[in-house]
Amino acid sequence: MFSEHLYYSYLETGILGKNLKYLPKTESTSKIIWDLVSSNNATEGMASITDDQTLGKGRRGNKWFSLPNSSLTFSILLYPNFSIEKLGLISLVAGIGCVEGIIKSTEIKTKLKWPNDIIYQNSKLGGVLAECHKIKNKNVVVLGIGINVNEKLNDFPTYLQHSATSLRHISGKKYKREVILAEIINHLEKSINSESTIIEKWKSYCSHLNTDVKFHYGNRLLNGRFVDLNKQGHALVKINGDIQTFSTGEIQI
Ligand code: BTN
Repeated sequence: MFSEHLYYSYLETGILGKNLKYLPKTESTSKIIWDLVSSNNATEGMASITDDQTLGKGRRGNKWFSLPNSSLTFSILLYPNFSIEKLGLISLVAGIGCVEGIIKSTEIKTKLKWPNDIIYQNSKLGGVLAECHKIKNKNVVVLGIGINVNEKLNDFPTYLQHSATSLRHISGKKYKREVILAEIINHLEKSINSESTIIEKWKSYCSHLNTDVKFHYGNRLLNGRFVDLNKQGHALVKINGDIQTFSTGEIQI
């Protein structure tokens, strides 16, 4: 059971998260927001959260696992005024908001894996699905964020047990999802409003900057060194002496 009262008592934003739709159970919090957009009932910064997400969507068409009442699964609606070529930055901002919100609410220092996986010691703690559509000439973005909070390792399906972690598994403590949610949204809003620092901040949280990585790009698996981000937040990977730029893909560390 999620306490809206507790959540609002930690929220310190001007716009983001002020209007929270809480549903005990739903298919996908991102679908909730897109449905509200379609029916013209959405407002900037509105968020949706559920205790039990039954059909969570992950990146690259994957399903997203969550455990009822233990995982944090939420989505938030943004109308970014970034230029179209910089829209990729929005998904980096989401990662920054997660790292900073998690430190503030739990003191646990997580890292980022490009583009926006939240990781702790090479295990995945959370992920971000950034979906963008142009509607009536306006960029509409829904950030869907999943964080593993109070799961025990054996709550995860077997196929995830070697790669996933949770805040509870890391520290042995249980956490209030309400506080983590509010702090992530507080930090998300701060980062969105300071566009010029996004790239440097993201790099300071990156777990694999200047290290050798395996890079999944389409059907190919490339070996290279992750050397930088460009101004749009795309990955610069040095492969056989040449620096190549990627706007999509998946890093394996
Ligand atoms: C990833 O694959 O790493 C991204 C996972 C994003 C999952 C979140 S949970 C809340 C929101 N609703 C969804 O259906 N997906 C996102």
